[in-house]
Amino acid sequence: MIVYDNYSLLSRNTFGIDVKADKFVEYESVDELTSILQEIKKDNNPFLHIGEGSNLLFSQDFHGTILHSLIKDITITEESDCSVDLKVGAGANWDDFVQYSVSKGLYGAENLSYIPGEVGASAVQNIGAYGREAKDIILNVEAIDVLSGEKRIFSNQECNYSYRHSIFKKELKNRYIITYVTYRLSKIAAFDLDYGNVRRELDIAGCDVTLENVRNTIIKIRREKLPDPKELGNAGSFFMNPVVGNNKFNELIEKYPSMPYYKMGEDGMKIPAAWLIDQCGFKGYKTGNVGVHHIQPLVLVNLGGADSREVMALAEKIVESVFDKFGIKIVPEVNYI
Ligand code: EPU
Repeated sequence: MIVYDNYSLLSRNTFGIDVKADKFVEYESVDELTSILQEIKKDNNPFLHIGEGSNLLFSQDFHGTILHSLIKDITITEESDCSVDLKVGAGANWDDFVQYSVSKGLYGAENLSYIPGEVGASAVQNIGAYGREAKDIILNVEAIDVLSGEKRIFSNQECNYSYRHSIFKKELKNRYIITYVTYRLSKIAAFDLDYGNVRRELDIAGCDVTLENVRNTIIKIRREKLPDPKELGNAGSFFMNPVVGNNKFNELIEKYPSMPYYKMGEDGMKIPAAWLIDQCGFKGYKTGNVGVHHIQPLVLVNLGGADSREVMALAEKIVESVFDKFGIKIVPEVNYI
C-alpha cells in the first residue's frame, strides 16, 4: 500500500486541474482495500475513489482520502469452444486490457480501443464508442460494500446498464468499490464496423478486416479527432449525447433537415451533442484559459492553467446556448467533484 499526504492531483486528472488531496492511498489487494475502508470509517473521514481521472473535474482541494486501485491482474476464469471469460483487476489500464484481448485473438473489446481510463471505470461509466459499449462484454462486476466490507458480485443485469449509465453511477453511487470486472469475449469473429467511418477508413487503407486492423483503425480515428490529454488537458466528451422523444425529434428534423441522429429503439432518438454545440458556433471557441476543441466540439479543453470555475462557466454557457436554440438541455458526462 502506498500512502501520500497533502498530495497534488495534477497528474491524476486528465483535465490538468491543480488541486490537492489531504491523503492519497494506492492499494494492491482487496484485503488492503477493506482495511483502509475500516480506518476511514473509524475516523469518519470523507473519501473518494478514482481511476485514471479521465472523467473528473475537481473544483477544489479534497479534504479527505482519495483511493486508487493497483489491482491489475488478468485471469482466465472460464473457457469454452466459443468464448473466454477474463477477470480483470479494476486498476488495470483499459486499453492495456483491450490490447491484451486483441493479442489473444478475442473479439468484443476492439471497438473500444484507446479509450482512456481504467477497467473499474469501464463498469461504472459503461464506456462506449463506435457502436459498442462495455456492457456488451461485461459478464459480472465484483465489488466491496463500503459499509459492511462484504464482497458482492453483480451480474450484468443487476448493473442496470444503459447509455453511459450504471447502478454504480446513481442508485449505488459511493456505496460499492469495484475490485474486479469479468468480461466474456468471443473466439468467433464478429465485427461491428458500421458506426461512423470505421469501415471506410479500413477500405481506404486497403486493410483486411482483422482484430489488429480494426483496433489500429480506431486508434487512428481517435488520435485524429480527440486531443491528447498529455498535450491539451481534457476529459474526452464533456457532455452526453441527448436522447429526445419522437415529438421533439419531429419538430427538430423539420426545422434542421440535415441534423444527424441515431435511433435508440423505443427510447427515442440520440442527437450528437457535438452537432448541437457546433451549430451554436462554439467550435474552436476560446475564453481565458479554456476552450472548445476545434475538431470535436464535444470536448472542452484546458488551454493551460485553467481552474475548474472557468471550465464550469464555459460548460454552463454552452448548455444555455444549446437550450435557447434547440430546447434541449445537454447534461455533462464529466463528474464534478
Ligand atoms: N459533429 C458535428 N460537428 C463536429 C463534430 C461532430 O456536427 O464538429 C456531428 C457529426 O454529425 C458526427 C456526430 O456529431 O457524425 C457525432 O460525432 P462523433 O462520431 O465524433 O461521436 P460523438 O457522438 O460526438 C460519441 C462518444 C465518444 C466516442 C464517439 C465514437 C459520447 C458522449 N461520446 O461521440 O466517446 O468516441 O461517439 O463512437 O457518447 C467519450 O466518451 O469521452 C468519447 C470520446
